[in-house]
Amino acid sequence: MSVVIVTGASRGIGEAIVKHVLRASEENKVVVTSRTLSKMVEIYSGFNQNNIEYVGGDISDGKTIDEIIERSVDKFGRIDSIVVNAGILEPVDKISNYKNEKKEWERLFQVNFFSAIELVSKSIEYLRKSHGRIIFTSSGASVKNTEGWGAYGASKAALNHLCGTISNEEKANGIRTISVAPGVVDTQMQDDIRGRLGEKGMSLKDLKIFQELKKDGKLLDPKVPGKVLGNLALMGIEEELNGVYLRYNDKKLAKYK
Ligand SMILES: NC(=O)c1ccc[n+]([C@@H]2O[C@H](COP(=O)([O-])OP(=O)(O)OC[C@H]3O[C@@H](n4cnc5c(N)ncnc54)[C@H](OP(=O)(O)O)[C@@H]3O)[C@@H](O)[C@H]2O)c1
Repeated sequence: MSVVIVTGASRGIGEAIVKHVLRASEENKVVVTSRTLSKMVEIYSGFNQNNIEYVGGDISDGKTIDEIIERSVDKFGRIDSIVVNAGILEPVDKISNYKNEKKEWERLFQVNFFSAIELVSKSIEYLRKSHGRIIFTSSGASVKNTEGWGAYGASKAALNHLCGTISNEEKANGIRTISVAPGVVDTQMQDDIRGRLGEKGMSLKDLKIFQELKKDGKLLDPKVPGKVLGNLALMGIEEELNGVYLRYNDKKLAKYK
């Protein structure tokens, strides 16, 4: 039995991770969180409700994080894994427009990065007890540049670095962590890239690449990375993978596919 916290669980990759964890064993428990409580209740209605704890709230709010941890421990008695998956892409715009987007940059870093530090640091005592694991949903954008994606790419690079820092600091306490890019996945985020966000701040060339991936049916089903991320949460992280950044389809992750 594993107790797994999944953030960004109301759709897309987070939903796929949660469903994989619940289907893997009837013993598994999940704490699901996002701002849209009603959506989570709807999409997980077919599962045993004794195995699910719902926390509705903004992940950038410390009170939401306190509630996630309290409810995990009160209801299930422990925390084995955290999948830090909630993320946003906005603002998509050039650095030359930063002066107009400062608030949006700060907002993105609150959601994508500072919430991750807060969730991890407040859970550490429980993860030490369980010799638990932390899985970060990173992005290819953490290691390559796309015009207009400065805020998003920087936040994901920062997550990769955070993963490395945690692996160093918590190795002796039995906690392991990994940062995984999920590929280009057919979710709401990709809809936004092809539409309102892409048209505003990306180059036409990049925008066309994403539009054609969808048109040609080349976007990944969320179940594909969802299985890898879910299995990392359930099976544990091998020592040689502790603290590293990998793509979901790296051959080092073969046993998690
Ligand atoms: N799709 C891709 O191609 C792709 C590629 C690389 C990396 N990723 C990463 O994969 C992760 C999941 O993305 P996705 O593609 O599944 O996107 P998505 O469909 O837009 O889902 C994002 C999830 O994050 C939650 N979320 C957003 N802002 C939040 C906030 N302030 N507080 C709490 N929850 C919040 C959303 O829930 P609510 O809106 O209900 O709160 C939703 O559940 C993200 O970290 C993303 O950066 C995606």
